[in-house]
Amino acid sequence: MQHSSLDLELQNLSKSKLKDYLRQLEGIDADMLGEPWGQAQWLMDLPSKWELSWVLLREARPIGFLIASRKESALHIHRFAVAVNERSKGLGGALMASAVRRALERGCVNITLKVHYANAGAIAFYTRLGFAAAGRQQDSLEMMGDSRRIFDLTQNFRLQTARQHVK
Ligand SMILES: CC(C)(COP(=O)(O)OP(=O)(O)OC[C@H]1O[C@@H](n2cnc3c(N)ncnc32)[C@H](O)[C@@H]1OP(=O)(O)O)[C@@H](O)C(=O)NCCC(=O)NCCS
Repeated sequence: MQHSSLDLELQNLSKSKLKDYLRQLEGIDADMLGEPWGQAQWLMDLPSKWELSWVLLREARPIGFLIASRKESALHIHRFAVAVNERSKGLGGALMASAVRRALERGCVNITLKVHYANAGAIAFYTRLGFAAAGRQQDSLEMMGDSRRIFDLTQNFRLQTARQHVK
């Protein structure tokens, strides 16, 4: 799949591609809040993971990725980042749009993810895309892929706290 800019290419992230790009993906992931992933977590087989995950290349070098799998009827995003010098160009949004499109094609009805409560940048990004606190899971965000329905924010104390930091 080609991105609109000619030197950018969005590819499905197969397991063999992940192995090839592992060191570079770890570099992009380096400033992620929370625990870094070990090799076993990057390569772990999960339901539909290798058809629901993406890598974004600029001139054939990885500059962003989104790793997801299927959890019941949801697309669950495990890991998602864009290289520091490539942020705020719409690339995270493009990765997310591909993930949503593929998930809808596969019959997923929502997207779930966990975000560190102190990750104000990511929370701002997800909120702008229509994500909201999930009703019953304290530290996850959830979005209906089709209707962008907002869930009850008052259920999620940690998210509310983080949202106050963003403002
Ligand atoms: C979250 C992330 C993937 C977004 O990627 P991106 O390519 O910058 O996303 P886009 O360019 O499509 O959207 C950027 C928008 O998101 C919001 N945003 C992103 N980071 C932000 C920050 N630190 N503070 C405030 N808003 C932020 C803003 O609305 C921003 O728009 P702007 O640049 O016009 O202000 C990227 O910031 C990232 O890799 N962060 C570190 C890893 C991470 O936290 N991943 C999520 C873990 S759950």
